[in-house]
This record gives sequence, structure tokens and C-alpha cells, in this order.
Amino acid sequence: MKNSEMPIGLFDSGIGGTSIWKEIHALLPNEDTIYLADSKNAPYGQKTKEEIIDLSVKNTEYLLNLNCKMIVVACNTATTNAIKHLRQKYPEVPFIGIEPAIKPAAVSTKTQKIGILATKGTLNSELFHKTVSTYSNIKIIEQVGYNLVALIESGKINSPEMKELLIAYLKPMVDADIDYLVLGCSHYPYLVPQIKEILPPHVKIIDSGEAVARQTKIILEKNNLVNSSRHHAQNTFYINSNPFVLNDILDNKYTIEQKDF
Ligand code: DGL
Repeated sequence: MKNSEMPIGLFDSGIGGTSIWKEIHALLPNEDTIYLADSKNAPYGQKTKEEIIDLSVKNTEYLLNLNCKMIVVACNTATTNAIKHLRQKYPEVPFIGIEPAIKPAAVSTKTQKIGILATKGTLNSELFHKTVSTYSNIKIIEQVGYNLVALIESGKINSPEMKELLIAYLKPMVDADIDYLVLGCSHYPYLVPQIKEILPPHVKIIDSGEAVARQTKIILEKNNLVNSSRHHAQNTFYINSNPFVLNDILDNKYTIEQKDF
């Protein structure tokens, strides 16, 4: 039986999903959370759908064994490839997924051209194709962010290699006159300062973090699972490789445990 005092579980292929965790924690500071960074298996974006499903099931099982009342799939690649499977396999568990925020960009664009940067796994997924097909009047320029996740996971956010890759991926979108860039990977919000240096100032950058946090709150309320007890919320982070970069991204404020999962 689930109850409101149980933690919310989150997982990602690595540290990127902490961009989602930060939004959820800001909106729901009273909730206990357990975050799994499956960095050992990153990047998910280059794996097959079957591999992504298997890893998502492994992470979900781990979080359910730790008594989580809800699972946030803080990864676009895992959501677009595996959430349908997870919802079927665990019908009693509320799942929140994260998908590229195409809709807000598509309804607001003035140039009728938007760019999306995401993993290969997300851009090739059925769910993403379905979303895109709803906006056939808009030109959507897709770009796989090859190697960006690997560089972020190894702490090279501010490296010359990162800058070079971002210029190569974003310049063609700028030349094509996009006015919105959708960040379709939960790792990419950590690249916003670098991306802003490349994009002209009128191009808006959108990610899904805030929307996911709002949706998490709505689903907790609907299921009577909002934690209203007065307590000091516990935020637990597990990683299955070196915790150094995760620690850095969390400003050394939380305890991170290295575990095998
Ligand atoms: N952070 C993930 C996403 O949102 C996955 C990145 C990866 O492992 O390739 O897509």
C-alpha cells in the first residue's frame, strides 16, 4: 500500500535528471526523494529500445524496493522508449515522464521554424514521431546531440570540445531561422550558458523541467499522496559510478552514495 510519507523515486541515465529533480524539489520541498543516476550505463540515447526498456525496468524495480510511491522517469530517452511498457508492467504505480516540449514552441513560433536537440533514441522513438506529426505546419529541425551526454557525465561541460560540438549542432538551426530551441534531453539544461553564447538573443530556449514538476504535483494530489507531514525532507542520491560530477552539479550540498544497481 502506498502512503503519502513514502519518497518520490526518480531515475535517469546519469546526472542530467537532476535538472528535473531541482524543479520538483523547488515546487514540492516537503517531499522525500530518491534519485538514481545510472551513469554506468550512460548514454541511453545510443541504445536499442529493448535495452532502454530493460534498464528502465531495472531502475524502477530498485526504486520500488525502496518503497517509492511514485516514479519520475527523469529522462526523455527512457520516457519516449519505455514508459508505455512501465505503465503496463506496474499498473498500480503512478509514473511521470518527460518529453521534449515541442508544443509550447510550436504554438509560439513566429518564424514557423523550431529546433530540437535530443538523443538519437528520443528522436527515433514512435512517441516523438507521433508528437511531431501533429505540427506538420511547422518546420522542425532535428539534431542528435552526439557525445554531449558523455562530455557532461565526465565533467566537461565547459570544455572546448563541448563548445565545438554545440556550434556544429546549433549553427545550421540559426541559419534556418529558428526562433525556439527545444532541449529534449534532461542533461542539456546544464548547457544553457554555453548555448546562449551561440544562439542570437531572440531565440528562446525551452525545456520541460517546470512542466514536469507541475504534473508531478497534480498526480500526487489526484492520488492523495502529497506529503503534508512536518518534517525535514530527505533527499537521497545513488550513483553507480564515480560521484564526483554529480556532487559538483548538486553544489556539494547532498550526500551521494555510490551503489551497485
Ligand atoms: N538524460 C537523458 C535524456 O533525457 C538521456 C541521455 C542519454 O543517456 O543518452 O534523454
